[in-house]
Amino acid sequence: MKVAIASDHGGVNIRQEIINLMKDMNIEYVDLGCECSTSVDYPDYAVPVAEKVANGEVDRGILICGTGIGMSIAANKVKGIRCALVHDMFSARATREHNDTNVLAMGERVIGPGLARAIAEIWLTTPFEGGRHESRVCKITEYENALG
Ligand code: RB5
Repeated sequence: MKVAIASDHGGVNIRQEIINLMKDMNIEYVDLGCECSTSVDYPDYAVPVAEKVANGEVDRGILICGTGIGMSIAANKVKGIRCALVHDMFSARATREHNDTNVLAMGERVIGPGLARAIAEIWLTTPFEGGRHESRVCKITEYENALG
């Protein structure tokens, strides 16, 4: 699996924590920034990560900002992206099993690095359950495809 990761200035510390996790898990990753301590705009980081997932350059994306909300909104505008904003371990598992999410968003002003690491590990290792969930995810894709 290959993962693209990025954060704005509000998510730099958790981004580093998740990069350390991916190193520990021997997961290949590409770090798309930000290289900054000054204020940047989260869509400038969410969209490149989401596009890499959507075009198949990477398998998954992870995005961190202050709340995770801006990143998740922006990522979900990219066709083919199912981004979940997750701040608990139950949802981390459920959104992989039920929604086959391909991008994870978290907020550094909401949770600490330990919980973020646990969430990311669950999300990276939990498979999609398929079955009844498959047709539900397909309905989202069908809607998206009908928009052109
Ligand atoms: C930046 O101040 C903050 O708005 C951003 O990190 C994020 O929380 C937006 O949703």
